[in-house]
Amino acid sequence: MSSKKIAIIGGGNLGSAIAEGLLKSGFSKAADITITKRNTATLGRLKDQGVNIEADNGKAVAWADIVLIALKPYNVKEVLAGLKPLFKPGQVLISVVTGILIDDLEKIVGGDMPLVRAMPNTAIAIGESMTCICHKFASEEQVQFVESMFNQLGVTVSIDEKLMDAATVLGACGIAYALRFIRANIQGGIEIGFDVRTANLIAAQTVKGAAELLIREKRHPEEEIDKVTTPKGCTIAGLNEMEHQGLQFIAH
Ligand SMILES: NC(=O)c1ccc[n+]([C@@H]2O[C@H](COP(=O)([O-])OP(=O)(O)OC[C@H]3O[C@@H](n4cnc5c(N)ncnc54)[C@H](OP(=O)(O)O)[C@@H]3O)[C@@H](O)[C@H]2O)c1
Repeated sequence: MSSKKIAIIGGGNLGSAIAEGLLKSGFSKAADITITKRNTATLGRLKDQGVNIEADNGKAVAWADIVLIALKPYNVKEVLAGLKPLFKPGQVLISVVTGILIDDLEKIVGGDMPLVRAMPNTAIAIGESMTCICHKFASEEQVQFVESMFNQLGVTVSIDEKLMDAATVLGACGIAYALRFIRANIQGGIEIGFDVRTANLIAAQTVKGAAELLIREKRHPEEEIDKVTTPKGCTIAGLNEMEHQGLQFIAH
């Protein structure tokens, strides 16, 4: 369990999910998390678990070792500029805000404050996020701490900041792409005879199993595809039809 005090500025969907995940995983004590937003009435669930709820961002920042901003991009400049005089040496600033570059953060907070940009996805709510991070002015120990924090909420990988937009597409938008694929399978499942609930379960669990084969067994997709592709069988017929309809495994 970490003893660092974490202030989450912007307790909306993502900020609250991060707080819940840090609590659920046992990474942080409730008393070591402060979460802020202007309308704190929506943070009752976290309050009931003992998390500090605060409408004053300044108080949260003055108290914290780690400051994580989970604001909408258009709020960042104003909020951070107001907090700038309160940042103290040793504090780490983490931003999960889409499209705000480390350079932008540096321009607002100035100096050489350790800065980390993290791009999680919505599966963070169930501790299954893919989170890409990059950093500037942060020590190895500080980066390791941030990695271990996001590792409680899924899997973390360090990337170069120039790949952050690509990480957004592959990791964050990727959730939607995967879900659209699953939805198509559900519709197909209903067409061939399953009720919606059963089709939903079979489609989702099958995709989960396919992903786990790659993650746990570190296999290549084609290796696993070969295993289910019998000559003259229905798998190859389906794969060929997918290609004929435009779902190709080679990007053009
Ligand atoms: N959702 C995701 O899975 C995901 C994934 C990757 C990145 N992101 C990024 O994460 C950021 C947050 O996304 P979200 O979906 O959590 O948005 P959200 O639900 O709108 O959360 C933003 C929160 O900021 C609070 N806020 C606004 N002004 C504030 C201020 N001055 N001081 C303190 N809090 C303030 C708002 O509450 P009040 O109005 O009550 O203050 C709101 O609850 C976005 O930049 C998004 O691009 C999200």
